[in-house]
Amino acid sequence: MRYFIGNWKMFGVPKSINILNKINSFYSKDKNRKKYRVIITPPYTLIETFSKHFKSKKISIGSQNCYQKDQFSSNTAAISPFMIRSVGAKYTLVGHSDNRVEGDTNIMLKNKVHFALKNNLKVVFCIGENRADKKKKKTFSVLKKQITKVLDKKMNLNNIIVAYEPIWSIGTGNIPTENELFKTTLYIKKILKSINKKKRPLVLYGGSVDGKNVKMFKEIREIDGFLIGGASKSHKKFIDIIKNYYR
Ligand code: 13P
Repeated sequence: MRYFIGNWKMFGVPKSINILNKINSFYSKDKNRKKYRVIITPPYTLIETFSKHFKSKKISIGSQNCYQKDQFSSNTAAISPFMIRSVGAKYTLVGHSDNRVEGDTNIMLKNKVHFALKNNLKVVFCIGENRADKKKKKTFSVLKKQITKVLDKKMNLNNIIVAYEPIWSIGTGNIPTENELFKTTLYIKKILKSINKKKRPLVLYGGSVDGKNVKMFKEIREIDGFLIGGASKSHKKFIDIIKNYYR
């Protein structure tokens, strides 16, 4: 199974549901639809409306983040996994680099993953090195740390998807070479296997994915799908990625 996940970041108002309606009508008629899933992570403000609207449809709705506590607490503006699940989301991103730079620590991320799974949310756990790490050839050691400090064998790893998003690639148009990405994906899978041989998360790629470069990515069979930012805000661009992947 492949995954095409659209992360809207700080984008979207109620009428933006039109974008999803168009993606959904493509998806429900696509001859390849059984081979992949589509998940969209809109901002918190739209999760409930979108989840209700797409409840019986193909598209699933996820959250972009969650708070590191379980149900209710006295943390102003915090939104817990329990609250996210209660409005119909099925997935949540955890550890996006946008949130890591704003202060998400490994301990916080571990709690987020734990409470999200506890509340029946599937977790898309984001990892990725920055430009300086890459220059110093530290990519593998950074990724290993990001994974092993947060994921452990007590977690139900079947309900976790790992998204590899090199920070230097997000929103820049720069992407890894086919060889780099092949090696890095294999390395991530090796680390995940060392945590639990039987239950292994799928591994997605994210960072400037578009309808053109997806043709290169599809050559790397080890990549189980994509986390798509900018291009997911346009139904045409998002659909192009899926079409070109299966072309
Ligand atoms: P872009 O596709 O805009 O590079 O964003 C990737 C991303 O951060 C998705 O979470």
